[in-house]
Amino acid sequence: MDLNSRVAIVTGAARGIGRAVALALARRGADVVISDLDLDGARHYGEQLSAASVPDEIRALGRRGLGVQGDLCDAAAARDLVARTLEAFGRVDILVNNAGGALTPVERSLASVVPEEDLQAMWQLNLMTAVHCSQAAMPALRDSGRGSIVNIASRAGLDPAQRQGRLTAYGLAKGALVQYTRFLAHEAGPAGVRVNAIAPGAIATARLQATAAARNIGTAGDVANIPLRRLGTAEDIANVVAFLASDDAAYVTGQCLSVCGGTVLTPN
Ligand SMILES: NC(=O)c1ccc[n+]([C@@H]2O[C@H](COP(=O)([O-])OP(=O)(O)OC[C@H]3O[C@@H](n4cnc5c(N)ncnc54)[C@H](O)[C@@H]3O)[C@@H](O)[C@H]2O)c1
Repeated sequence: MDLNSRVAIVTGAARGIGRAVALALARRGADVVISDLDLDGARHYGEQLSAASVPDEIRALGRRGLGVQGDLCDAAAARDLVARTLEAFGRVDILVNNAGGALTPVERSLASVVPEEDLQAMWQLNLMTAVHCSQAAMPALRDSGRGSIVNIASRAGLDPAQRQGRLTAYGLAKGALVQYTRFLAHEAGPAGVRVNAIAPGAIATARLQATAAARNIGTAGDVANIPLRRLGTAEDIANVVAFLASDDAAYVTGQCLSVCGGTVLTPN
């Protein structure tokens, strides 16, 4: 398996895309530490686990698993996450910055009216969580000799026209995350650390499915506008994360890869 003997941290991995990423990395041989605000968060949207917890699912795949609860908007929580990983497993080779979401009200999200509190909330959740974890993990990633960071951005960070321009605060923060990816790749490349991003399209996670009707997402009209004519799955994202984290992507750094069924067809 291509990730044998590597240790990965996946943030926001109690459910959804993060959980699928954690399991995909474990299936390929990695030991995985998951971090989340709420390690039991899958139950909020009825996401079914195959064991009592996500770390138990990882262990059922024959790998070591650990859960660390914390709010990664706080830099101290990110430092604690890395320290607990090093204490338990002795190294960090892969960091997947997945914690995030478009959680501020859509009805006040146009660029001309979006309130500062929403801008700050989305900046903290979608950019600073990744900055905190990347900075905390960088010494260990350098020590790894084949360190890899994958940041989960969004198509909203690449194209303001997604969702009729209604995701300003979220899109700004994800756009900044893509640019942070490039800055960090430039700095960390000489130390052998690769840094890439993925920009998912609409992914049918349990959360998205539970909230789609109220948010008018995933409609037949939305699907008709996707060249591959379906919403994405969490596994669609997880498989590309696993590729970017592996030696198959050894010469790829500083890139943002759209995984969106062809929704975004402009250069990144
Ligand atoms: N689902 C989609 O359609 C979609 C599309 C584009 C991008 N994304 C991005 O993918 C990532 C995962 O999305 P998802 O749909 O699986 O969301 P989700 O809400 O199901 O999962 C996100 C997880 O992050 C955790 N989290 C939130 N804030 C945190 C914090 N401050 N510290 C630690 N953990 C925190 C949550 O508890 C949750 O378990 C997000 O960054 C999101 O912006 C999702």
